[in-house]
Amino acid sequence: MLYILDTADIETIRYCNEYYPLAGVTTNPSIIAKEHTDFWELVTQIREIIGKDKMLHVQTTQKEAEKIVEEAKLLKEKLEGGFYVKIPICEEGLKATMRLKELGIGVTMTAIFTPPQALIAAKAGASFVAPYVNRLDNIIGDGTEVAAEIVRQLAHYGSDCKVLVASFKNAEQVHKCASAGCHCVTVDPKILKAVISHPMTDAAIKGFERDWTSVYGDKTILDF
Ligand code: E4P
Repeated sequence: MLYILDTADIETIRYCNEYYPLAGVTTNPSIIAKEHTDFWELVTQIREIIGKDKMLHVQTTQKEAEKIVEEAKLLKEKLEGGFYVKIPICEEGLKATMRLKELGIGVTMTAIFTPPQALIAAKAGASFVAPYVNRLDNIIGDGTEVAAEIVRQLAHYGSDCKVLVASFKNAEQVHKCASAGCHCVTVDPKILKAVISHPMTDAAIKGFERDWTSVYGDKTILDF
């Protein structure tokens, strides 16, 4: 499973890219707007930090297929490498996706809340579909089960479209998505931290330190 960072905060991206095995960064208009800065400067800086090979998903601001395609071409030209345009599922979005497939520009169909939405997005040629787990959980919609069903249906029909699950509030949701075989999760840094944390781990590390220092004091292996 791939871990992607769901933020446009430059310092957070710089930090997490250094400490976590990230496959890339996802943004959306809300995430970008939070930064209150020049769009091109921001996304170019993100690309510089993560490098050309990692994925960068940026959402279109257009509503009509032709304009979505035009924007996607410009984004691809400027951001190069592993670039994917995020398009919310709708008729214009599907039309744009079919055209972008022909042009070889990757699409992440986003704002997915049901398996039928995901299946038709895959059929149109989306490389990724992005179901929103926590927003479904918030309305008692069982977000992780929706993501799991999308994985099952895409596998059943032999689709090469991948499930990039978005909208998380806790590590348990990430765990359930991994168990279901979801291909990627996009999370904020708090979730990454929650994924690696466990009180028993903290206790184990403290125990190792205590036992070592009781015999060797401040010496480390490098001091022998
Ligand atoms: C992906 O980029 C989604 O837009 C995002 O993960 C949604 O998360 P939220 O429900 O926390 O806003």
